Amino acid sequence: MTEYSLSPTGEKFQLPEQEDYTKEFKRLQDLVNSQRTLGREIVVVMGLGFVGAVMAAVVADAEDGKGSATKFVIGMQRPSPRSYWKTPLLNRGISPVSSEDPEVLLIINRCVNGKKTLIATYTHDALKLADVVVVDVQCDYLKESLGNVCDGRADMDALEESLEIIAQNISPQTLVLIETTVAPGTTEQIAYPIIKKMFRKRGIESDPLLAHSFERVMPGRNYVSSIRDFWRVCSGVNEEATRRVVKFLREVINTEKYPLTVLDKPIESETAKIVENSFRATILAFLDEWSLFAEQNGVDLIKVINAIKVRPTHSNIIFPGPGIGGYCLPKDGGLGLWAYRHIHGFEDNIFKITPLAIDINDTRSLHVAQLTRDALRNMSRPIASAEILVLGASYREDVGDTRYSGSELIVRRLTEMGAELRVHDPYVSHWWEFEKQDEYPASSHGLNRFFRGQEKLKDLRVEQDLEKALHGIDALILAVRHKHYLNLDPDEVVKNAGGPIAVIDCFGILDDKKIKRYFELGCEVKGLGRGHVKRIKDQVRDEKEKMLINIPLGVEISKI
Ligand SMILES: NC(=O)c1ccc[n+]([C@@H]2O[C@H](COP(=O)([O-])OP(=O)(O)OC[C@H]3O[C@@H](n4cnc5c(N)ncnc54)[C@H](O)[C@@H]3O)[C@@H](O)[C@H]2O)c1
Repeated sequence: MTEYSLSPTGEKFQLPEQEDYTKEFKRLQDLVNSQRTLGREIVVVMGLGFVGAVMAAVVADAEDGKGSATKFVIGMQRPSPRSYWKTPLLNRGISPVSSEDPEVLLIINRCVNGKKTLIATYTHDALKLADVVVVDVQCDYLKESLGNVCDGRADMDALEESLEIIAQNISPQTLVLIETTVAPGTTEQIAYPIIKKMFRKRGIESDPLLAHSFERVMPGRNYVSSIRDFWRVCSGVNEEATRRVVKFLREVINTEKYPLTVLDKPIESETAKIVENSFRATILAFLDEWSLFAEQNGVDLIKVINAIKVRPTHSNIIFPGPGIGGYCLPKDGGLGLWAYRHIHGFEDNIFKITPLAIDINDTRSLHVAQLTRDALRNMSRPIASAEILVLGASYREDVGDTRYSGSELIVRRLTEMGAELRVHDPYVSHWWEFEKQDEYPASSHGLNRFFRGQEKLKDLRVEQDLEKALHGIDALILAVRHKHYLNLDPDEVVKNAGGPIAVIDCFGILDDKKIKRYFELGCEVKGLGRGHVKRIKDQVRDEKEKMLINIPLGVEISKI
């Protein structure tokens, strides 16, 4: 049966068939032969996801001091129905990831169509031609309960499978650079033996050239530069691997301005990544309890944070929003806990803060459902059957990545409570966590498992027309700080909704003037960490009462 892969814009691509593979490899061989005559190194980037697609372009854009391209990059993406479309799109010079950073489109188009240093393929045979393989496939952490990261495990399937394929195909002199975030110990204790064993089977005596260097990419407005112009940490399994990884990174990353840190062993580089993200998860989780304190005691946490931030030692204090999503922060600490037991064999429980932080972050957005319920109650409207619009599906502002976003849990909990949900997001055309909730992000591991009444959410579609989405709603949840939502005019919102609504601000999006205006228009406002809204509500009520007292006798109220 012919299989197809559908791009986010709805374009249909037929998956390659057996006879296509021979032709494709011939195409790659011809290209590589001519690229070698130009003195370019052949780099295969495995996995064209959020990291791999842009890393591939950064490598393909690398030049020597004379402005000549030094690398020819083959982006290799497995041809699954879910992901194959990335390959033909990239070959046209179109980015498979959407971003607010205009440089993503430019660099990919420049390297594919201009410099001709970047192509994409679906065949693993590409690995046979590589001088360097950069591994950017996923390594997941699967949680079995909601809010208990300790009840879970690392899902190494994609990574282990990729390493097997690499070991079967590469030449002994190929440098394998793992960029995937892995459980500390993986490079030496899982990847190295896989490759070494396969090398032995293939009669190769030499040691694999294996290294680790983690990505710090931020897929937002500075997507490209967060890969190219940023500090890197790396380490190799042996001297030669270390020498090669340092050489490679110096050639492709701006290490002159952002010097490399070379650590003694890959486990140190792997641990650096996990500690870095656990630290960030922890400082975000820390503010959850102060956010509740603020709501209950008339404090605006946004102003408190801004007051603290001016102190240079505290400048990275950060408001947590409705849960901390993204692919990395919810899972990376879990990879650390898992490694301690399942790679290194310890039985004791040394981790307290890291799992607690992840658990707090994973459940913070449930509170948004409570705020929505309470705001509607104050307007004498039941949550059941209420029409609720969530603005923003992605995990952070100005990106189209919905993985583990706070909005997902908000939609799930409110649906469970009987509300009817709509969603708008200018960066997201399909919210696969709902449309394909039985298989995405991992088969039988969707968050739908933890809620009842989720079946109908398969039909949830992301609305692109904001005016239309607002029509007839009872409540509006400002969930993500997309630039499109920062300056919404309360009068316009209420007019489009058709009357007063409940407004829930999850990210400090509303200033006091706007909050006041919503109250004046008869709306109810609540917000994460925004206890001061009650004061503004009282002020508006007092002003209205004062106005009524000052009306001269005999004047009709409707004429005021
Ligand atoms: N997304 C981020 O912001 C970010 C930031 C820093 C680090 N990381 C880390 O980088 C790694 C990759 O993350 P991502 O967000 O790009 O993931 P992703 O899921 O978007 O991309 C992984 C890609 O690898 C492909 N793949 C899997 N097995 C393959 C194989 N055998 N051959 C070819 N392709 C294969 C998948 O189909 C997918 O397209 C993860 O370890 C992640 O934790 C991600």
